[in-house]
Amino acid sequence: MIAKVHRLGRTLFGALRVPMARAFASAENPLNHIGALTVFFLWIVLVSGIWLLLFFRTSVSGAFESVEYLTREQWYLGGIMRSLHRYASDAAIVTIFLHMVKEFVFNRYRGPRWYSWVTGVPLVWIVFILGITGYWLVWDELAQYVAINSAELIDRIPIFTDSMAGNFLSDELLSDRFFTLMAFLHLIGLPIFIVFGIWMHIFRLTGPRINPPRRMMAGTLLAMLILSAVYPAASHEQANLAMAPEVLRLDWFYLHVYPLIRIWSPGWVWVLLVGVSSIIVIMPWAPRQKKEPPALVTLDYCNGCERCVDDCPFGAVEMVARTDGTNYSHQASVDPDLCVSCGICVGACPTATPFRSQGALLPGIDLPDRSAAKLRDDIIAAGAEKSSPHVIVFGCRDDAQLKAIEKAGHRVVQVNCMGQLPPSYIDFALSRGHADGVMLLGCQDGDCSYRFGAEWTEQRIARQRDPMLRGRVDVSRVALGWQAPWADNANAVQKFDAFVESLKP
Ligand code: HEM
Ligand code: SF4
Ligand code: SF4
Repeated sequence: MIAKVHRLGRTLFGALRVPMARAFASAENPLNHIGALTVFFLWIVLVSGIWLLLFFRTSVSGAFESVEYLTREQWYLGGIMRSLHRYASDAAIVTIFLHMVKEFVFNRYRGPRWYSWVTGVPLVWIVFILGITGYWLVWDELAQYVAINSAELIDRIPIFTDSMAGNFLSDELLSDRFFTLMAFLHLIGLPIFIVFGIWMHIFRLTGPRINPPRRMMAGTLLAMLILSAVYPAASHEQANLAMAPEVLRLDWFYLHVYPLIRIWSPGWVWVLLVGVSSIIVIMPWAPRQKKEPPALVTLDYCNGCERCVDDCPFGAVEMVARTDGTNYSHQASVDPDLCVSCGICVGACPTATPFRSQGALLPGIDLPDRSAAKLRDDIIAAGAEKSSPHVIVFGCRDDAQLKAIEKAGHRVVQVNCMGQLPPSYIDFALSRGHADGVMLLGCQDGDCSYRFGAEWTEQRIARQRDPMLRGRVDVSRVALGWQAPWADNANAVQKFDAFVESLKP
């Protein structure tokens, strides 16, 4: 059932990719940088927030006036900063939601990756509280609505003895001290938590992408500036606790649960919020999944070159002092609790070479369930099925199009991730006459289930990253199924046929 939801989600993302791929090159496709875009939006919020802070007065009487001053008198800078602050906050909610959905549908939240998933949940809470306290600080009618409803929500938590809602019965009861507390939370306390939370969130990942490409940042900022200039953020009327506000323009990104506080009750809204958060937190273990055996180091073949450490996307390999008395100073060591069995380290290991003629094919690091030796056997078997020109397809097990290729009668040599395939295997298939061409079908950069499978493969084949494809291999005989020159919406079989045509003399 979950697998079906994943598949449906991937299909939808795939459909979204078609128009995006027309507009952007792969490296600059926003769909490949959703987490990093969120960080960028939070940067805009921070920088614009610092400007607002310079002019903001943290008293009940001064707050509204200071924000009005920025919006109307200093519209050319303060007003733009205010609008940027608001629109970037709203955009962050959209990208957080998309980021979460994407990690889910691409199955990047189970096994050892539960950690990034679970630490994402408090981040969402903090971002929402940050946004809500922000609306509170303007002290207009919307702030009044937010303050009164939030107070009712907080009063439902049994740990507070004094009623917070009592603070909002009249202007006289509302103290500057309480207002200053809100300002402290919004301006200092929560931003510190956000920075710490993001650090925790990506702590286990190797080379996390926290910055989008420069052109994307410039384009996004420009679009936000234009929006801010054309449609500047504005306040409601000043808050007046003696009157109930009549017309409110709610920010649905942040305040969508607020109407429910009135329609249901604060208690039921808590049930909804805590319930949804708890379901998200337990998702990595529901249903339980059998853990695949982690990568295994064979010291006899490990020369301590560190390539597996450089290429493992999950920080699961480290170099430790040698234990077998050989001349090498270090050896690779895998932490089974962090290893997701992607095999990218095997693709990086210089000793994973199918040309070895003596002894068993045992590389320095290997996957017990999908070994380098079995991969060589599969190539030899696929090479025996002669067609002319003969193409061997290597397929990443998560690629949605493998089934279509198999249905069309073409044999697929499966790998856990395209990054598991050492370039020497491509050389082996072509130079030993097992194939006239090799096609790699895997997820494109940004969709890769194991983060760097597509990127490392492209770089190895372009001879920019070790282990590189040997110079004798004619790269026109290697097709990357996720890269141009295919038509945007060509399916795997059409790509295969086009590739076979291109190989004909
Ligand atoms: C303020 C909110 C958030 C920010 C700024 C953020 C940012 C990021 C960044 C920059 C990465 C690294 C991406 C990469 O290099 O591959 C990442 C990874 C991840 N995020 Fe978030 N994230 C946020 C919220 C969330 C939420 C709410 C969830 C889900 C509940 C989530 C789930 C994940 C997962 C599972 C990964 C790891 C993916 C992998 O192992 O390949 N994130 N996030
Ligand atoms: S890549 Fe292979 S040889 Fe190099 S350190 Fe890792 S296991 Fe050892
Ligand atoms: S299988 Fe993947 S996660 Fe495990 S050590 Fe190798 S590269 Fe890292």
